Amino acid sequence: MCKLKRIVHSIVLMTIFLSLFSACQDEFAQPQVLKKKALVLGFAQLGDESGWRSGNTISIQKAASDGNIQLMFSNAEQKQENQIKAIRSLIAYRVDVIAFAPIVENGWDNVLTEAKQAGIPVFLTDRYIRTDDAGLYACYIGSNFQEEGKRAARFLKKKFADEDRTINIVELSGTVGASPALGRSEGFYKELSDDSKFKIITSQSGDFMRSKGKEVMNNMLKKYRNIDVLYSHNDAMTLGAIDAIENAGIRPGKDIVIISIDGEQAAIDLLKIGKINCVIECNPMLGPTIVDTAKKLVRGESVPKNIYSEEKVFTEWDDLTDLPPRGY
Ligand code: AHR
Repeated sequence: MCKLKRIVHSIVLMTIFLSLFSACQDEFAQPQVLKKKALVLGFAQLGDESGWRSGNTISIQKAASDGNIQLMFSNAEQKQENQIKAIRSLIAYRVDVIAFAPIVENGWDNVLTEAKQAGIPVFLTDRYIRTDDAGLYACYIGSNFQEEGKRAARFLKKKFADEDRTINIVELSGTVGASPALGRSEGFYKELSDDSKFKIITSQSGDFMRSKGKEVMNNMLKKYRNIDVLYSHNDAMTLGAIDAIENAGIRPGKDIVIISIDGEQAAIDLLKIGKINCVIECNPMLGPTIVDTAKKLVRGESVPKNIYSEEKVFTEWDDLTDLPPRGY
């Protein structure tokens, strides 16, 4: 009887010990999961020159927080040297992965070589770079700027299909040396090159900014009396140019046909009331793809070299009543 009691006693003790042990194991496992280091993405933004750019920044910040990654974000205020400095700081901090929107195409090889030597993957977002060594960056995420320029030209060909006269175009281009400015011009000229009635009478940079768009358009209106079309590389400059056009007593969208790129809410609203004739979409909502790509690169997975956004064209001929709010 006493022996049986001892056996029961030892079974009870063993059970208590085993359950305590497994509880301890759970306790040890839990904090380890919680303590796991969040992936750190360093992002060097080029500035805050337009509504498009603000939308792009918000999209990146929101996607990082939704995706539980740590974001080290900097704003270069439109200066390449600030962007290079920011990338150098991210390398020194040893972030897991770096992304940046290069303000201009040239001049990145040195800093990207430093990132490569530090073993930190880098990818481009929004804008391309020009380099002989494509191995310096993992991939590009953003728009196809040449295609945007071609889309603008196709709208013009359709708009003036029945007219047999010279169509005088002024071009408000973006930041000098920036890939969207170069691509949007190149695609536009290429697509119009087979129709000699389209004449680009001047092309001047408004640096993708509303204030400069207004200033440049003002000067163009003083110099040229015969403008049929304004082709503007972004909505911010278009909004400034429309101020200048209206101040000069000219009707935007009627006396001067206006094509703009981006698709900000303000531009879509002007398209709806006939002050802009065509808006080529350029999608700033790149955050989710950026975060997804950052995670893949840190895991060592391969990604496509070019990841293009899907984009639309909105024209004066479309019914836009049900178009959802743009969000930028
Ligand atoms: O690089 C994208 C361009 O940059 C957008 O069209 C413009 O609004 C921004 O400044």
